[in-house]
Amino acid sequence: MFVRPFGACWLVQTPAKLNLFLEVLGRRPDGYHELETLMTTFSVYDSLSCQAEPAGELRLDCRWALGLESQRNRTRRLATLCPWEPLPEEKENLVYRAVRRLRERAGVAQGATLRLVKRIPAAAGLGGASSDAAAALVAANRAWNLRWSRAQLREVAAELGSDIPFFLTGEDAWRGAAICRGRGEILESLPRMPPLVVVAVRPPVGLSTAAVFRACQVSSRPKSVQELVEAIGRDDVRQVGRLLHNGLQEAASSLSPWIGRLQREFQRSGVLGHAMSGSGSTYFALCHTVGQARRLAGRLRQQCCGAVFWGVTGR
Ligand code: C5P
Repeated sequence: MFVRPFGACWLVQTPAKLNLFLEVLGRRPDGYHELETLMTTFSVYDSLSCQAEPAGELRLDCRWALGLESQRNRTRRLATLCPWEPLPEEKENLVYRAVRRLRERAGVAQGATLRLVKRIPAAAGLGGASSDAAAALVAANRAWNLRWSRAQLREVAAELGSDIPFFLTGEDAWRGAAICRGRGEILESLPRMPPLVVVAVRPPVGLSTAAVFRACQVSSRPKSVQELVEAIGRDDVRQVGRLLHNGLQEAASSLSPWIGRLQREFQRSGVLGHAMSGSGSTYFALCHTVGQARRLAGRLRQQCCGAVFWGVTGR
């Protein structure tokens, strides 16, 4: 996350995430699932600006980045091929709810004008809405001069969504990886994360997190994240590729044919490893080189299989 002042505004660039590992350890009495997951930031960014409003009004304008909006218009006839779905209404948006919650908790009378430009697709398992909400907490904290610590912001964040605290792991310029346990809100950040070259595809149809968790089975022989952590510590990218794992993948495959389709596509492409991210529907591959990633991304774009990104993790 990058945070900087610009005139009377605070600007935040906030990244997507990928799950390199996710295991479902159990069902909890509160309806959530106990997880062990390793998440890393990924170089696709949403942009948020926030300006304090002394009059007290809270406003949010949220839209897809310009290029994506025109892509959406071009593919309108092919609505089912368009991953840039309509965004939630102002007051339903997690960004709005996060800032409203912070305002209540801090007893602030001021309002804020927030503008969000989105590039991270929704219903994707890329943490877009969570990343935006984390960015909004950081920006409003600055705009209202609250001086809350990241730990204090993480507490509010955890009430709003399981993945939001991850994006508040470090200080302003933090990028990297963390093991997340509990619902996903208990964090252990990793000291190092080699940049991994990734191609990620968000198919035309997204998946609901709640629906995927409802369909999932608790693993009877759970895998541990430890081997992967050791491979990351040694910068052993080949081994990282072999150890990618997602315990929600089977459930997601039963709900969307795109998961199996992308899995087969990546199996043929000679990558280091591949898996689904979070609760899907994004599927990603770890590549040997930037060249391989660019070629693979180009081929997938021609096949019209959704939104295709290539980039690096830990950025
Ligand atoms: O926490 P968040 O609002 O992102 O979760 C969305 C839904 O995903 C929850 O309502 C729950 O059904 C499911 N979930 C879960 N176990 C988790 C995280 C999410 O069952 N650890």
